[in-house]
Amino acid sequence: MRVLSGQTVSPPPIWLMRQAGRYLPEYRETRAKAGSFLDLCYTPEHAIEVTLQPIRRYGFDAAILFSDILVIPDALKRNVKFTEGYGPSMDPISEEGIRQLTPEGVLDHLAPVFEAVTGIRSALPEETTLLGFCGAPWTVATYMIAGHGTPDQAPARLFAYQHPEAFDHLLALLADVSAEYLIRQIDAGADAVQIFDSWAGVLGEREFERFAVGPVRRMVDRVRSSRPNAKIIAFAKGAGYMLKGYRQGTDADAIGLDWSVPLAFAAELQKDGAVQGNLDPMRVVAGGKALEDGIDAILEVLGNGPLIFNLGHGITPQANPDHVTALVNRVRGKG
Ligand code: CP3
Repeated sequence: MRVLSGQTVSPPPIWLMRQAGRYLPEYRETRAKAGSFLDLCYTPEHAIEVTLQPIRRYGFDAAILFSDILVIPDALKRNVKFTEGYGPSMDPISEEGIRQLTPEGVLDHLAPVFEAVTGIRSALPEETTLLGFCGAPWTVATYMIAGHGTPDQAPARLFAYQHPEAFDHLLALLADVSAEYLIRQIDAGADAVQIFDSWAGVLGEREFERFAVGPVRRMVDRVRSSRPNAKIIAFAKGAGYMLKGYRQGTDADAIGLDWSVPLAFAAELQKDGAVQGNLDPMRVVAGGKALEDGIDAILEVLGNGPLIFNLGHGITPQANPDHVTALVNRVRGKG
């Protein structure tokens, strides 16, 4: 929380995107008990348990609510499914479908998430930050339009050119329900929130402004208009050079950096406030020297400013849990 206010903390706090996940045997065990992935997300007892697992094992400085960005389309009745070995899918939305979307009932559908947040906050050590999160409108829209993951989000990019009004309406609706969703997470006990724009990197420069920066700014303004002290991290994966104006454009307290962001550029971005990132998750799979070199490079360039140590994207299922222990120790100067 101090880093989010712009302070330098040494050693920097650390948490990992997707820190609760399939690389942990205890996660796989709870996941098997829960049944489907969405059952895991919507059963507070299980969501609380898997959120706490990486905290118990590694003592990270932050826990992140266990859920998924696609609970928003699920709450919007898009028939979301997670299929083993395939990933998420849902009914692809049309122009007509967008016109029929209504935010009514969305927050009621997500009540188990708020219950989980409250349960996690009361179980966590006081010094551990609890992060809530949601997807950014652009990234959530890409799944709603295609109906599944795609390599470059061509269906959503095409839809945006062909149906600009419907597309703008979709982004605005997602921004507003997602902002209300974040406000409820904060009220339930989240100390700060992160907005994931995992597909920002496929956008051209004008589209980045209109579809990534604008809707996230709308969310930040809406959250702060009722919760003025809300701390917000915005992560636009793959945005590259366009990150230059991203903090100012969105008014986020911290910006997340993927591993392709050069450290010299990251240091420039850090002059304006906190940055979070940006170790390549494959270094955690590799371990050893590859892991150590990656950590040291980040600490050397960014360690003397406001930094939240993290990966450049989510940890992958093939990561060795012992490598994560080594990572935490090294960031804390113990290995
Ligand atoms: O970071 C955390 O530990 C919190 C939990 C979290 C999950 N998903 C759990 C999850 C968070 C923050 C997310 C965000 C998310 N979900 C994003 C944005 C961040 C990113 O990774 O880019 C996106 C794009 C999604 C959508 C999504 N969910 C996909 C594409 C998939 C399938 C890919 C995969 O890894 O299987 C998921 C499933 C998912 N979400 C899993 C987890 C732990 C794996 C499902 C399982 O356990 O079977």
